[in-house]
This record gives sequence, C-alpha cells and structure tokens, in this order.
Amino acid sequence: MGKVYYVSKHVGLGLLVLAVTALVTIIALSIAYDKERAKNQDTLGDGAADGTTPVPTPFTPKEPWDRYRLPVSLVPVSYNVTLWPRLKPGADGMYFFTGKSAVVVRCVKETDLLIIHSNKLNLTSFNGHHAVLTGLGQATAPAIQNSWLVVKTEFLVIQLRSRLSVGASYVLYTEFKGELADDLEGFYRSEYTEDGVRKVVATSQMQATYARKTFPCFDEPAMKAVFNVTIIHDQDTVALSNGMEIGWFQKCKNSSPFLIFVTSQISRESGSVQKIWARRKAIDSRQGDYALNVTGPILQFYEQYFNATYPLSKSDQIALPDFNAGAMENWGLVTYRETALLFDPIMSSTGNKETITTVVSHELAHMWFGNLVTLQWWNDLWLNEGFASYVEYLGADYAEPTWSIKDKIILSDVHKVFAVDALASSHPLSRREEEVNTPAQISEMFNTISYSKVSAVSSQSYLNTFAFGNTVYTDLWDHLQQAVENTPGMHIPHTVHDIMNRWTLQMGFPVVTIDTRTGSITQKHFLLDPDSVLDRPSQFNYTWFVPIKWMKTGVEQQQHWLLQETVSGEDWVLANTNVAGYFRVNYDLDNWHRLLSLLNTNHQALSIINRAQIIDDAFNLARAKIINTTLALTTTKYLSKERDYIPWESALRNLDYYILMFDRTEVYGALQLYLKKQIQPLFEHFKTITANWTKVPTGHTDQYNQNNAIGIACSMGVQGCGELIKSWYRQWMENPHHNPIHPNLKSTVYCSAIAFGGVEEWDFAWRMFKNATLASEASRLRSGMACTKAPWLLNRYLEYTLDPTKIRKQDATSTIHYIARNIVGMPLAWNFVRARWSYLFKYGGRSFSFSGLINGITKRLSTEFELQELMKFKEDNLHVGFGSATMALEQAIEKTTANIKWVAENKAHVLKWFNDESK
Ligand SMILES: *[C@@H]1O[C@H](CO)[C@@H](O)[C@H](O)[C@H]1NC(C)=O
Ligand SMILES: *[C@@H]1O[C@H](CO)[C@@H](O)[C@H](O)[C@H]1NC(C)=O
Ligand SMILES: *[C@@H]1O[C@H](CO)[C@@H](O)[C@H](O)[C@H]1NC(C)=O
Ligand SMILES: *[C@@H]1O[C@H](CO)[C@@H](O)[C@H](O)[C@H]1NC(C)=O
Ligand SMILES: *[C@@H]1O[C@H](CO)[C@@H](O)[C@H](O)[C@H]1NC(C)=O
Ligand SMILES: *[C@@H]1O[C@H](CO)[C@@H](O)[C@H](O)[C@H]1NC(C)=O
Ligand SMILES: *[C@@H]1O[C@H](CO)[C@@H](O)[C@H](O)[C@H]1NC(C)=O
Repeated sequence: MGKVYYVSKHVGLGLLVLAVTALVTIIALSIAYDKERAKNQDTLGDGAADGTTPVPTPFTPKEPWDRYRLPVSLVPVSYNVTLWPRLKPGADGMYFFTGKSAVVVRCVKETDLLIIHSNKLNLTSFNGHHAVLTGLGQATAPAIQNSWLVVKTEFLVIQLRSRLSVGASYVLYTEFKGELADDLEGFYRSEYTEDGVRKVVATSQMQATYARKTFPCFDEPAMKAVFNVTIIHDQDTVALSNGMEIGWFQKCKNSSPFLIFVTSQISRESGSVQKIWARRKAIDSRQGDYALNVTGPILQFYEQYFNATYPLSKSDQIALPDFNAGAMENWGLVTYRETALLFDPIMSSTGNKETITTVVSHELAHMWFGNLVTLQWWNDLWLNEGFASYVEYLGADYAEPTWSIKDKIILSDVHKVFAVDALASSHPLSRREEEVNTPAQISEMFNTISYSKVSAVSSQSYLNTFAFGNTVYTDLWDHLQQAVENTPGMHIPHTVHDIMNRWTLQMGFPVVTIDTRTGSITQKHFLLDPDSVLDRPSQFNYTWFVPIKWMKTGVEQQQHWLLQETVSGEDWVLANTNVAGYFRVNYDLDNWHRLLSLLNTNHQALSIINRAQIIDDAFNLARAKIINTTLALTTTKYLSKERDYIPWESALRNLDYYILMFDRTEVYGALQLYLKKQIQPLFEHFKTITANWTKVPTGHTDQYNQNNAIGIACSMGVQGCGELIKSWYRQWMENPHHNPIHPNLKSTVYCSAIAFGGVEEWDFAWRMFKNATLASEASRLRSGMACTKAPWLLNRYLEYTLDPTKIRKQDATSTIHYIARNIVGMPLAWNFVRARWSYLFKYGGRSFSFSGLINGITKRLSTEFELQELMKFKEDNLHVGFGSATMALEQAIEKTTANIKWVAENKAHVLKWFNDESK
C-alpha cells in the first residue's frame, strides 16, 4: 500500500485520528476479542484490465503539462486571494467575478517550469505573460520566457529563462476574470425568489477539481496551504469563508484547496460559535433550529471520540437553494442542500429529520477526518468517505439515542455495497494512483463503493479510543500490527498486512457456505451473475481470511477464522450474527429449513438485523444461482407476522427486483395477490395502533414502517387503502392552506393519489410545488408528480426537466429517474434520454449525476431487444461520451444481460410459487 495518507502539520492530532481509524479497521477485521467484526474491501490485482474505465496508461505524455498530475518541483505555502463577485450581470448580460491571487511557492526541486492549475479563467496579461513572478527574501526570480494555458489538463504553464533554486520561495501573482455561471462548479451563482424578488448568491463547490476554476492554484488534495481570502462585497450582503474572519480579511488554516466563499442576502440563526445560515424566510420560520440543536451534541461527541478538540474556532453551516451534492464539508463552513439542513416541525417528516441528523453528522466528522487529515490522492477517497459514512452513525446515535440508528447501517450501507460489489465490474477500494487522473475519473470515485463499503466493513464495530506514541508511521498496516502486538490478549491468526491485503487488494467479498451435516465451511467469491467474466485476476485467487461469528440454537459460539471445524447436529446454526462481517452466508438445505421454520414459529428468536440479513442473503444467493429462487421467496412467508421495519424493508427491496422484472408480465397478478395477503396484517396493525390513522406511531422506525404498509397496501389493492388516500388528498385540494396529510406519509400519499388521479391532481401538485417554501416538501411533490399514469403528463414533465425555470438543474436527473421508476414512465424516460443524450450531457456538465440517471433508467431492462437498444445507445454516443456515467453504463449492460437470463430461468417457477402461495 505504501504511503497512503498525508498527515497534516498537526502531527500529534493527525496520528491520533489515524490511530482511531486504524482501530476501526483492525477491530472490524481481526480482533478475536471484540464482539463485532467485519471485513473489507477489495482492490485490484494488476489493474491491466480495468474493464470499465478506459485508462490510457500505456501512453506516457512527454511534456509535463500534458500529464494530469502536478510536477513535484514546487509546493504552495500560502495564498492571498481577493475575489469580487458581481451579483448583477455585466453589460453583456454575463455574471462574472474578478480576482487577484498571490501564491507563495517553495521550490523543492530545480526547475524552469512553473505549472499551476487554471481553468476557464481569463488571465490578465502583464508584459505579454499571464503572471508576474518575484522572489521572496533573498531569492531573485528568473524572467518569464513564455506562458500559455493547456485546456485539456487545465494548467497554466510558465516557462522561465533560468531555473528556480531549491529552498527558495517565490511569489506568483495573477489577476483574472471568470464567469459566475450557474453551473454548480467552482465559484458559481445560485438564484432563488423570495417574496417575488430574485436573489443571487455567489457560492462555491471546489471538490474535486473546481478550485482551479476560481483562481489559479495547486489543485490537488495534498497541496495544502494557508489561504488568506478577501471577498469584496456590498454592505448589505454577508461573506463567509472557512476560517476565522478578520474584518474584511478572512484567514484559513492549512487546508487543501477546496474551500468556500459566499456572499448573499442570507440570514443566520446562531449559537455562539455554531451558526446555521439560510434564506431569510427559512431562518425566520425557525427551520434551522433542529440542525443547530444536533450540531452541539455531535461536535461534543466527536471531540470525545477523536480525543481532540474541534480544530477550528467557528462552525458555520449554510443551506443553499441550488446545490448539487447533498453537502460539502468545507472546513468550518459546510454547505448543504436545503433538504439536508432545514427542518420544519410542522411540515417535515421523521425521515427528513433523520437525513438532517446523519448528513450533519457525516459532514462534521470530516472536520477532523478529511480536512485535518487529508487523503494523499483521490484514489484513496474510500478512506475519507468510508470512515465518515461509518462514524456518522455514531454521532447521530449520540444526538438521537432513541432511534436505534446504528441498526440502519445494514439497510443504508451493507446491502447497498453488497449489491454493487458483487458485480464483476466492481472496483477495488483503493485504486492505484495512476488509475485516477482526469477530472472525470476523479468524479467517478465518488460512488457507492467508496462511500458505503468501508462503512459496511467496519459496521457495528465497537470502538475505544486508543493512545499511540508520537512516531510517524508511514505504513498503515504496520501501524496496526503494532497496535495488535501491544494489546494484551489480542490475537489474530495472520499479520494485519496479510489479512488486510486480501480485503483491500482484491475486489468483492465471499459467500461462506456452512454444511451442518459434514461440518465443512467453505468460501467462494460471491458474484451476482455466476456467468460473468472476471477479467481482473487476483493474486489471492479471491480468497479471504474470514472471521465468523455464529450461534447454535440461540447460543453464541466462539469466533471462528474460517478453518476446519465440525459443526453438526440437529440444531439450527446462524452465522454472521448481527451482521458484523462483510460476507454472505449459505447453509445446507436442512439448516435452511430449520431457520425458515424458526422464522415461522418464533421469529423473535433472531435479532432484527439477522432476520433482515437472512432475507437479503437468500435473495442474493438465489440471484447467483447458489440456492433455489423459491427458497428465497419462502423467507418472506413469515412476514405476515413481522411488525418490524428493518426485515420488511429488506424484503421489499429484494421483492422490488421481482416487481421490476415482472410488472409487465402475467406474473404480476399473482405477485400482487401474494403481497396483498402478506401486507394486510401490517396495514391493519397500523390502523389499530394509530386509532384509525389519527395518531403517529411512537417508535422511530415504526413511522417508516407505517409508510411502507400504506404504500404497499395501496399498490397491491388492499381494501380501504385507495379510498383513504384519495380522501386525504381531496381534502387538501379543497383547502390548499390546510394539508391534512401527516409529513411522514406525504411522499407515499402524493404518489398514490397522483397515480389514482388525473390532470387535476397533477396540476394541483404542480402549483403546490411551485409555492412550496420548504425544500423537502417540494422534493416530495416533485417525486409524487412522476407517479401519474397519464403518458402525456409524463412527457410534459420530462420536458420540464430541461427548463431550469421549471425544474432546478440540480433536480433534473433525479426527476427523470423518478419518472423511469413508474412503469408507464419508463419507456418515455428511456426514449427521452436516448434522444437527448448529447444535449443532456452538455446541459448537465460535470455536475450532473449521470451515473444515477443511467442506473435509474435501465433498471427494468430485461429483454434481448432492450439489451440491443442499450448497446446501440452506447455505440451511438461514443463520440459524445458518458463522463461519470461510464462505469454505470457498463454495469447497466452487465445487469441487463443478467436480467435476461434470470427471467428466462425463473419466470415459470416464480409464477407457480406466487400462484400456490396466494391461494
Ligand atoms: C497569509 O497570512 C499569513 C499569516 O498572517 C502569512 O504568514 C502569509 O504570508 C500570508 N500569505 C501570503 C500569500 O501573504
Ligand atoms: C498578503 O496580504 C498581507 C496582508 O495584506 C500582506 O502583508 C502580504 O504582503 C501579502 N502577501 C503577498 C505575497 O502579497
Ligand atoms: C474570456 O475571454 C473569452 C474570449 O475573449 C470570452 O469569450 C469570455 O467571455 C471571457 N470570459 C469572461 C468571464 O469575461
Ligand atoms: C431544539 O431544542 C430546544 C431546546 O431543547 C427545543 O425546545 C426545540 O423544540 C428543539 N427544536 C427542534 C426543531 O427540535
Ligand atoms: C487524549 O489526549 C490527551 C492529550 O493528548 C492524552 O493525554 C490522553 O491520554 C488521550 N486519551 C486517550 C484515551 O487516548
Ligand atoms: C492461486 O491459484 C494458483 C493456481 O491454482 C496457485 O498456483 C497459487 O498458489 C494460488 N495463490 C494463492 C495466493 O493462493
Ligand atoms: C427449485 O424448487 C422447485 C420446487 O421445489 C423445483 O421444482 C426445482 O427443480 C428447483 N430448482 C432447482 C434448480 O433446484
């Protein structure tokens, strides 16, 4: 692995954080002691065949400016940056900003070339050159011979007449003008209307490669520096940045070049050093209160957890009306989508609240891990994001202890990564540095694997803080090894290095098969499609060291490191208790039947998480043809007795595949009858405990489950459900100022009511959408409108997605995705995307989530004909490209191929099973 991290100058602190991470991993993976365990990741063998992303490695460009990485000859020390955004358009109608920047660079290797990132900036000319170079202190700067911009690699290149000397520092000065576009990249413009007045905000999104679009800079994560930032703005606006504010001058500690500036007419809600910023109206209606309430406890928790005080002197969090990512962890000034920060006690649902808690918790974790300690290069993004995705649950659990939110890791992370990591086109967590170069490749790193796998891997680990010496470790595994050796009673069967390499240097994870008749325990690389071709060889032959926690007839057994051991008898065996490990489990048929009978007679003998896991394992093993499909379906029979959310949700997500594959076939009728039968008791249960739908269930997850019960009951035709929903929606249409639908149920009710209704219901939703003052309310309506069954309404809606006055650009791809979810909308959305791909690609720029779009739109594809269409789409648009959707498109082709085979093999069995079981 070599050197993985860049540790900031706060070495002691940095190491402490590292040590904690180390512990997560180590405990997750290897400690025989601790009760939980997990395993890890993957990575590639010899990367030659990265089937999914074309990486032009063999060709090494001759000139340094044709490579994507900065040369190592110069390091930035500090910047003075002044930016002046104009919040009114210039004479030519263009919004723009001007700026100047002085960066102090230190020369560490002799060179006569000065290369710095700069993209889409018009640089002022000084004596015919793009910059001025002066020496600092004793140093004399060589004269500039020539300077030019390289568009492809986004560099400003300055050729000097003689060399810079090692150890000397220089100041590079530039002046520039850039467009303040509404492109969600770099320094950009966001607009919203309040009380009929159009307001403009200038804000920024620097990660991953957009700082260079704001000012010339060394735009790589390891190129940390001090940023002294000045923002020129009107007196009636506010300017914020990462660091401390010193009058007009804003200073920020050592940070990588992804920081932020904002000016706008916004308002704040304040604690003393913790502040929430948003549109004035949102603050006036106290929508920032909840986020502010949880920020304090979460920061407190992390201070304790990291054993380090909050590294900055202030914490600002701002909700932006126009923002592409969910949130961005700018140091000390976190930016959020409104839905991720603003909570309205009357209008928002429990789900909205949970989103806010977990997103805030995630971003605040980054204040330590990610900002204080920064990854060396984007190939190791997994560490940064994975770690935050894990600790966010701990922080959120501290802020909301009654929610049992840690149980949700299984739904939110484990199952999600299992799904992606079981494909032959998966990728290893840590790619080699050379494989991630271009901005598009960097953007592709921000995907499910990076975010969730580490989290899944370290899920549920029990953490202690841990003290380490102050030595500088260059190798993480060695560091962990030492921790193991220094901890009395800790024993692992192989070195940390050997154990970890198998999880980090090959992709995927195993299915462990336990045969209770013979006592054999075996492992095999789990691939969802058993016929998929693995073109990525592994030096470890896809085998892992797997620690297994298991129980026999309800009794916890000693942990087991996948060695030979006899497990036999009449008793039922359950492995991977509480899903502490990153693997799937299969059993001999007898043991499966014993588990199924246990579920049917006494399901509470197993933990909620294990009930959910049995269902998920069975369905996925069936997909991989390791067990019979009907066996998987049989795990859902006990659900008529299940009242807990997590197992239900696990089943519904798996059955969703059956619905997608079969909702255009005769199987659907029988499936509907079966599910109707299974959901009916849950629907009645909630009807009873809510006193005929007048109260809110008290449990946090019960509120989600109520929503599921209503949604499924209505779409499966349970008596009374449709009438209930229609009457709620009708009451609202009659009195638009009084919405009788509880926020928890709104998404479901809007969708069902609009699906049952026609143009009147739709147009009413559109009006409410346009007037919505709360972002999450707008978002529910936006997804609800995609549920209509009228093709003309769906087509009209599709057109709206490309009109930014109707649907904000940040919402365009998800809206198309919602439409594709709808059985009537799917072919319309697919045609729309195919017909407009090159336009969409331009319209969305780099900031669109094209991979989400491709995933969403291709989900139902399951016939040979549809596969041909998909291939043709790829071929026809090769010249346009697919950007960050490149991998998603490959995965879509792979999944469609698997779908076709699956439907052919299973349709008859499934139809028969549903027919038999729905009687
Ligand atoms: C930014 O401020 C720091 C501390 O005030 C100073 O040491 C540094 O030289 C400044 N940076 C530049 C580019 O002047
Ligand atoms: C940066 O700004 C500070 C404060 O105005 C000034 O003292 C310093 O000389 C500037 N540095 C450079 C390199 O311009
Ligand atoms: C930069 O220069 C180009 C070419 O002259 C011009 O088209 C563009 O509008 C300029 N950008 C700004 C922000 O002024
Ligand atoms: C925030 O905390 C205060 C004080 O505990 C409480 O009264 C208020 O209801 C909380 N606000 C929200 C939105 O949870
Ligand atoms: C926390 O940090 C302090 C000061 O660095 C140190 O003395 C203490 O031992 C640490 N505590 C733990 C549990 O690591
Ligand atoms: C992988 O399999 C090959 C051929 O079966 C064998 O030669 C090699 O030793 C195996 N490697 C490992 C690490 O098990
Ligand atoms: C799956 O189970 C059904 C019904 O028990 C049986 O007819 C079928 O042959 C089984 N298929 C396989 C692959 O075992």
